[in-house]
Amino acid sequence: MTESTIASHWSEALADAWGIDATVEPLAGEFDLNLRVVARDGRRFVLKVMREGCERGFVEMLCAAHQHIRARDATVPVAEVVPTSRGEPFCVRADAHGAERFVWLLTMLDGREYARMLPHSLELLREFGGAVARMHRALRDFSHAGLHRGDFKWDLSRAEWIDRFVACIDDADRREHVRGISARYAAIAGALRGEPPVVLHNDLNDWNVLVARGTSGELQLSGLIDFGDMIAGPVVCEIAIAGAYIVLDHPHPERAFAAFVAGYSQVAPLSGAQLDLLWPLLLTRLAVSVTNSALMKRERPDDPYVVVSEAPAWRFLERARAIAEAQMRARLRAACGMHASDAAARVRAWLDAQRGSFAPVMGVDLARIPAGSLSVRTSLVPRDPTAMTHDETLSLGSAAGVGAKWVGSYGEPRAVYTAPAFRKGAHPIADRRSVHLGVDVFLPAGTPVHAPCDGVVDTVEFRDVRLDYGGMVVLRHETPEGDPFWTLYGHLSRESADALHAGERISRGTCFASLGDVHENGGWDPHLHFQLAMVTDGMAGDWPGVADPDDLETWQAICPNPAALLNLPDARVAYQPLDTTHIRDERHAHFATNLKLSYRDPLLFVRGWKHYLLDEWGRVHLDAYNNVPHVGHAHPRLTAVAADQLARLNTNTRYLHPIQIEFAEELLARSPKHLTHVFLVNSGSEANELALRLARTHTGGKDMITPEHGYHGNTTGAYDISAYKFEMPHGGGRPEWVQLVPVADTYRGPHRGADAAERYATYVDDAIARISARRGKLAGFIAETMPSVGGQIIPPVGYLERVYDRIRSAGGVCIADEVQTALGRLGDSFWGFEQQHAAPDIVVLGKPLGNGHPIGAVITTATIARSFDNGIEFFSTFGGSTLSCRIGTEVLRIVREEELQLNARDVGNHLLAGLRELQLRHALIGDVRGIGLFIGVDLVTDRDARTPATAAASYVVNRLREQRILIGTEGPADNVLKIRPPLTIGRADVEWLVETLGRVLTEWDR
Ligand SMILES: Cc1ncc(COP(=O)(O)O)c(C=O)c1O
Repeated sequence: MTESTIASHWSEALADAWGIDATVEPLAGEFDLNLRVVARDGRRFVLKVMREGCERGFVEMLCAAHQHIRARDATVPVAEVVPTSRGEPFCVRADAHGAERFVWLLTMLDGREYARMLPHSLELLREFGGAVARMHRALRDFSHAGLHRGDFKWDLSRAEWIDRFVACIDDADRREHVRGISARYAAIAGALRGEPPVVLHNDLNDWNVLVARGTSGELQLSGLIDFGDMIAGPVVCEIAIAGAYIVLDHPHPERAFAAFVAGYSQVAPLSGAQLDLLWPLLLTRLAVSVTNSALMKRERPDDPYVVVSEAPAWRFLERARAIAEAQMRARLRAACGMHASDAAARVRAWLDAQRGSFAPVMGVDLARIPAGSLSVRTSLVPRDPTAMTHDETLSLGSAAGVGAKWVGSYGEPRAVYTAPAFRKGAHPIADRRSVHLGVDVFLPAGTPVHAPCDGVVDTVEFRDVRLDYGGMVVLRHETPEGDPFWTLYGHLSRESADALHAGERISRGTCFASLGDVHENGGWDPHLHFQLAMVTDGMAGDWPGVADPDDLETWQAICPNPAALLNLPDARVAYQPLDTTHIRDERHAHFATNLKLSYRDPLLFVRGWKHYLLDEWGRVHLDAYNNVPHVGHAHPRLTAVAADQLARLNTNTRYLHPIQIEFAEELLARSPKHLTHVFLVNSGSEANELALRLARTHTGGKDMITPEHGYHGNTTGAYDISAYKFEMPHGGGRPEWVQLVPVADTYRGPHRGADAAERYATYVDDAIARISARRGKLAGFIAETMPSVGGQIIPPVGYLERVYDRIRSAGGVCIADEVQTALGRLGDSFWGFEQQHAAPDIVVLGKPLGNGHPIGAVITTATIARSFDNGIEFFSTFGGSTLSCRIGTEVLRIVREEELQLNARDVGNHLLAGLRELQLRHALIGDVRGIGLFIGVDLVTDRDARTPATAAASYVVNRLREQRILIGTEGPADNVLKIRPPLTIGRADVEWLVETLGRVLTEWDR
């Protein structure tokens, strides 16, 4: 029977029983027939036609459950049952073969299946967990005989059946793995039986959960569907079943499951005992899946679907071998605000009570030793936060600035952990462990180390890898109640490690080791790394002393602040994180709210290096957006000249100084010969302001011509020539002395062919005519050479030349705003106007010239400079200061000596090629344009109509930020991705950018 016959049959039934006139179309379904219904009035439903032989009680139960949930809590995203015209929740209708079927109608929920959509963000998972908890709460007083099924292979509280079939799994290693999971299940079966039954959906797999895009493109939970496996059972089974799908192919499965569980527990708190059951149950659910697949393979050996469908489960089961259950328990408990285990809670209470009575670990009262910090915020070590030098490692003891002996902080984010072992992958922005989990005590090599309380040697190792522990000992201790805990001592002497053996008793106060020197302690300045652990399962071979900030909650539960064992108050060694909420609130309180922040979730950076930025937790971000740090953030040569000059003198242009000449000569050496005079100011705005005055005094005119959507600054005059600002709602409108011409945009503008340069240039004739018509006098033309805020536009070659000819014929001067395009950014040329074969009369420079120090400059001809000297002194207090001249000169030298223009060309071309390859795969990319490292990616919803994809651009930029890559958006519709990094960026960085952008575009395409 064809789909259309089925559809027309059921559309008649629908009209008959519900009185709804609609188009009907079958949906995919396992047993029952589901049909999508779109009524003539636009309402949407799902018509559910139950399989032949379905029991009435079952349909009754499903309808009643939906109605019950909706009545108890309308925020639970389940569909509403639409009663028939006779007011019944379902009816019986004959199908096209004459067989009687139960039929019911549900409202259609928004969204698409979770399985189809990405990313599965932690926020989405928390929301999902919360919705499941609310569903359970709503079903608390629901009962139905149908909930008590007999033997049912998907009842996770009766999963022991897999034991009998594990043998069906062909691969011996996998078979043993599943046996292990099954044995663990047997061990928790008693606890599971003790769990009270609640009403479970019982199949919250990734096709039974719907998600929809929110206003900013983020995915939100929109539906829980298909209650056909409902059952009464322990609540933990529901959570584990959903979890078994959540973890599949998730980039951070442990975090994902913990977020889901936390979301659940926030609504309906789970006990520690319940949380402890979840991980073995989740693995059991996957073991059930793969065992069932193995059975099906026996029945249908040629069915490729079975192999395909089990693959993700196997992938995860393989990966899960490396996840210690105790760590996972700690993670889930920590996510719900609990201690790592019940024992951990007791240990911490005991340690607290004993604080002050432990034997001094370093033989001295640590309260008398000053506290020091190596935090990424306070410390400048290492200078390059992506690669600490050997010398820096050796001088860490003095780096805190409090003398050679000091006590470091617990929970402190640091940039010092740069060795590959701390990173997941080679790239500097790969996930990195940066937060210290112990307390360090800087004392000389050879200082004896004592046990704070009785213990037994658990582990003793000599780890001879740079930036590892060197000599390391772990002691196991017990509280009087018999609860275990461990203390870890790193950076010991080799001799200490050699002299100890596992199982050896060490009594309180015994000196069992000494601090190693640099040759035996991992290459560090001598110090002790002292750490407390409540759980050690899964640690062997690693013993992490630092944590990824995104896993901090878990690791701080496993390895809490050890201050009590050092007889110190916790606060003495606890790192105080920045309160970003407070900073944000205060910013709102003291600054106008149009001082905008980038990103939905704003960033706070504390360090920069080249094209990398570090946030307050030491997470490294790739800066592919900021053009101010032209030669890279925190360039050491600039730091040096700035410090040197500030130590000597910083004064102004009213005094002679050779550096003024050096700076001017550096600038003019790169400029066309006709430009001979330089004015030094503080910003692009001030430079444009001055350029306007130069044009006016030189020509005696006032009127300016400028392209639409241009930007030249925030001061009054610069604002008046910035159409991007004054054309906005409330922008004040165009001054009468400003004439606008269209941007020479060959992608979206009216002229796209070979004659585009000429056609765009002729608009200037019209503008000149308008000036004559209003009896004005032309002063000049100003344009960003490559319009940036206009959408990273590359005008057709010859455009500016033609415009300049017209302007000069009309008596005006030509100003090139090169704030965005000069100083080698374009790779092929030092200036933007060279690309256009145009020769401006006035060139404006800003941002990159000072690499972050405020410097602007105007370069012009001798004639214009002479005209400007009308007897009124030109003076800008800080413009051309000794310091600015030193810095500006050094920036220009760095560009030359580090061959950054060449790098801009090489890396820019590589990036453009990567982006053009993405364009082949993603219809969202309408245009990739750019020269060197001035690049725009124009996103469109329709390539033919070139309709701007504004929402997608905002989504992409925010998603890249989540993945620690900074880019921006530009263009009148804010749909152009703006990529404009410091010129130091390398090939590996842009490859990372392209790969990540590809993944994000794929998410959006779904
Ligand atoms: C092309 C252009 N001109 C001028 C300016 C103004 O420079 P500043 O912010 O240094 O005053 C900017 C700033 O973004 C710019 O992009």
